This record gives sequence, structure tokens and C-alpha cells, in this order.
Amino acid sequence: MDLWLALAKGVFLRFVLAVTILGLLRHVALSLAALWVAIRRAPAQSLDLRQIFGETLAWLFPIRRLHRNRFGYSLASFLFHVGVLFTSLFLVNHIDILRDQFGIGWYAIPKGILDLLAVVTIIAGSSLLLFRIYASSSRQLSQLSDYGLLVLILGIFWSGFLAGRPGNPIPYAWLMLFHTLSGAALLLVIPYSKIAHCVLFPLIRLGSAVGWRLAPLAGGKVVQRLHGPEGRQI
Ligand code: HEM
Ligand code: HEM
Repeated sequence: MDLWLALAKGVFLRFVLAVTILGLLRHVALSLAALWVAIRRAPAQSLDLRQIFGETLAWLFPIRRLHRNRFGYSLASFLFHVGVLFTSLFLVNHIDILRDQFGIGWYAIPKGILDLLAVVTIIAGSSLLLFRIYASSSRQLSQLSDYGLLVLILGIFWSGFLAGRPGNPIPYAWLMLFHTLSGAALLLVIPYSKIAHCVLFPLIRLGSAVGWRLAPLAGGKVVQRLHGPEGRQI
């Protein structure tokens, strides 16, 4: 068991992180290239970069927007994201593994605080899952992968949290092997699932602002495409 765990935390984790990072870089590069082409196509119109940057920041930290609609869902989603980002990036055990494997590390948040945050995240993630299952508006839009991702993340949180509890009945090595393999599975699917939004989200406002700048004479071309030679511009 110890050998499997060492392999999972060592060479396998290196491979998985390489796939995740390269996969996400590919998304960013392709999106930036598409934006560049769109900007060149309609060069005459200016972009209000200050406003776009401000709107992007407001959506990245949506504290003031939480109450606007579906307060319970928005709060659960916000706490879930805080928990996922802070525990995965600032847990001392995770940083120790990074130091061990790659020689890099940073500040760790005290484990007591992250223990509490893990419980909050489990409650928030379970609420999101129940909302998808029981709210018909959400269920109709959900695919199997939407449920699967939440179940996977909840499994990672339960196993990580239980592993740190003395007196839990499941052997530590089994829990850690499950935790490491499910953590690696999540990292692997990030670039190939909707979770790629973790790098694409900041580009959404810019993408929509660029997309709505029509190229010179675009109106006429749209009319031609929709109505053929019979189309007339007003
Ligand atoms: C993929 C490789 C990963 C490895 C090798 C790993 C390793 C560990 C270790 C050694 C612990 C400490 C267990 C203990 O207290 O003895 C832990 C806890 C934890 N891990 Fe991971 N982890 C991985 C991925 C992840 C990911 C991707 C997440 C989040 C999405 C995550 C969330 C957690 C949480 C919530 C805890 C419990 C924190 C607490 O209660 O204080 N882990 N992990
Ligand atoms: C800074 C990076 C991130 C941003 C800005 C972000 C933003 C968002 C937004 C706006 C939503 C839509 C949910 C809503 O309407 O409130 C969402 C959903 C979701 N995000 Fe993220 N996210 C980020 C990182 C992550 C990461 C790292 C993960 C997991 C590893 C993740 C997992 C999810 C999941 C599972 C959902 C769907 C929740 C549900 O089923 O309702 N996100 N995210």
C-alpha cells in the first residue's frame, strides 16, 4: 500500500499536473488568439479596457452581487469556491508534497482554519448537489457530468477531512490513496470539463466586449447571409 501511495504522490502526480497545466495553457492561448483575430477584424472601434477590467474583477469577487437572486444558491457557490481554492492551494500537507516533488512552496493557512473550511465546503457542495437534484429548473439543465464533478469534489473533501481525524475507523493509507487518486482525477479532468472556467472566466467579459464590436460593413454581410440577394439594408 505504501508503495502505491508513494507512486501516486510522486511520479503520477507530476504527470497529472503537467497535463493539467499544459491543458489550461492551451485554452488560454487559443482564447487569446481568437480575441486577437476579432480585435484586428474591427480595429476602428475602441475598447473600454478600464470598464472591462472593473466588471471582470466584480464578477471574480461577487460579494456585492450575492443577494441579487437565488441568495442561498449564490452563497453556497461562493463558499464552495472559497473552500476548494483555499484548501487545495494553502493546506500545509499539499504544500509539503509540492516542496518534496518540485522544490516550490508558499505560505500555508493554519490547519485548524482549513479543517473548519473543509466542513463549510462539504455543506456548501452538498447544498449545490441537492439543488441540482431537487430544483426542477436546475435539473432540466443538468448533465451527468454536472453531478459527477460535484460528487468527485465532495469525495475528495470527505476523504481529506476524515484522514486528519484521529479515531476514524477507515485505515489512513486507504483514505489517503482514495484522496490522492480522486484529487488526481479532478486535476486531470479540469482542462477537459466545464472546470476549465477557472482560467477562462477572467476572459469572458473581454470576449463579449470584443464579440459585439462588428467589423466595418458587417451589417450588409449579415443581411446577405440571412436573406440572400433579396435582402436590403435600411
Ligand atoms: C492530487 C493530489 C493530492 C494529494 C497527494 C493530497 C494530499 C493530502 C494530504 C496528505 C492531506 C492531509 C491528510 C491528513 O490530515 O493527514 C490532505 C487533506 C486534504 N486535502 Fe488533499 N491532496 C490532493 C489533492 C487535493 C485536492 C485537488 C483537493 C481539493 C479540491 C484537496 C482537498 C483536501 C482537503 C479538504 C483536505 C482536508 C483539510 C483539513 O481538514 O484540514 N486535496 N490532502
Ligand atoms: C478563480 C477561479 C474560478 C471562478 C472565477 C469560478 C466561477 C464559477 C462560476 C461563476 C460558476 C457558476 C455558478 C454560479 O452560478 O454561481 C462556477 C461553477 C462551478 N465551479 Fe467554479 N470558478 C473558479 C474555479 C473553480 C475551481 C478551481 C473548481 C474546482 C476544482 C470549480 C468548480 C465549479 C463547479 C463544480 C461549479 C458548478 C457548481 C454547481 O454544480 O452548481 N470552480 N464557477
